[in-house]
Amino acid sequence: MPHGVAYNHTERFFCFSCAAIQLVWDAGGTFPRGGGVARPLTIAIDGPAASGKSTVGGLLAQRMGYLYFDTGAMYRAVTWEALQRGVDIADEEAVSRLARMLRIDIVKPARSDGRQYTVLADGEDVTWEIRRPEVDRYVSPVSAYAEVRRALTEQQRRIGERGQVVMVGRDIGTVVLPDAELKIYLDASTEVRARRRYLELLERGEESDSEKTLDAMKRRDQIDSHREVAPLKVAEDAVRIDTDNLGVDEVLDVLEKLVEEAPVEGGGGNP
Ligand code: CDP
Repeated sequence: MPHGVAYNHTERFFCFSCAAIQLVWDAGGTFPRGGGVARPLTIAIDGPAASGKSTVGGLLAQRMGYLYFDTGAMYRAVTWEALQRGVDIADEEAVSRLARMLRIDIVKPARSDGRQYTVLADGEDVTWEIRRPEVDRYVSPVSAYAEVRRALTEQQRRIGERGQVVMVGRDIGTVVLPDAELKIYLDASTEVRARRRYLELLERGEESDSEKTLDAMKRRDQIDSHREVAPLKVAEDAVRIDTDNLGVDEVLDVLEKLVEEAPVEGGGGNP
């Protein structure tokens, strides 16, 4: 089966593991800035776990008619598959090999069960599996491996460079798209983030314990921020937003304002 076949011009489909990625999406968002006014073509949103990146990133992309691309899903898919296939997470070479071989597709959701997109690992739907606590536990060590990052970063960059994208992760503004036209760093205190993650797990019917969630989050923060390759940090030219006391709509308002005001070169952001 060929990789990356787009079904029609309103679908979003991208195949991460083949060289010839095809990306087609409709550019008809509801974002107010229009009429030929330039807006940033590439928007990078970084930040620690549960800082709200996925929620607001997805909504912002939808409003702008941009592609929403959650890079964490790729690291999660590799981690889930390693666990499934009995690959020792401590075996860097074996995990890296898996990252190079695994075909990860992120496609428009076929079901409406709360998912933002469907994640396929070698054709199998792993959208919810990659959110499980065991993936939370091992995804940071997996993402710290240089070769895993190299394999996934290349694919992310190819997609990002096409523009009209809101890309979300840990190293988007610093490594994947250092020239992104708007860089956001979403933050919140560890306690607030752990509480959000705990409620999220409960809502999905997962067993959850607030203390354990907090501990797990601290462990991940520690690894993500201190790894040698592409650690989580605020890019020099990023706007940092503390979301401790802000709801989703409020964060979105701030982001839209930043989009409106972002200085863009040449500026062909609008169709
Ligand atoms: O949803 P949450 O913020 O908890 O995590 P995620 O965005 O799904 O990312 C899961 C993990 O993947 C992170 O803890 C990082 O270790 C890793 N990651 C990364 O290293 N680089 C990225 N660009 C995205 C995620």
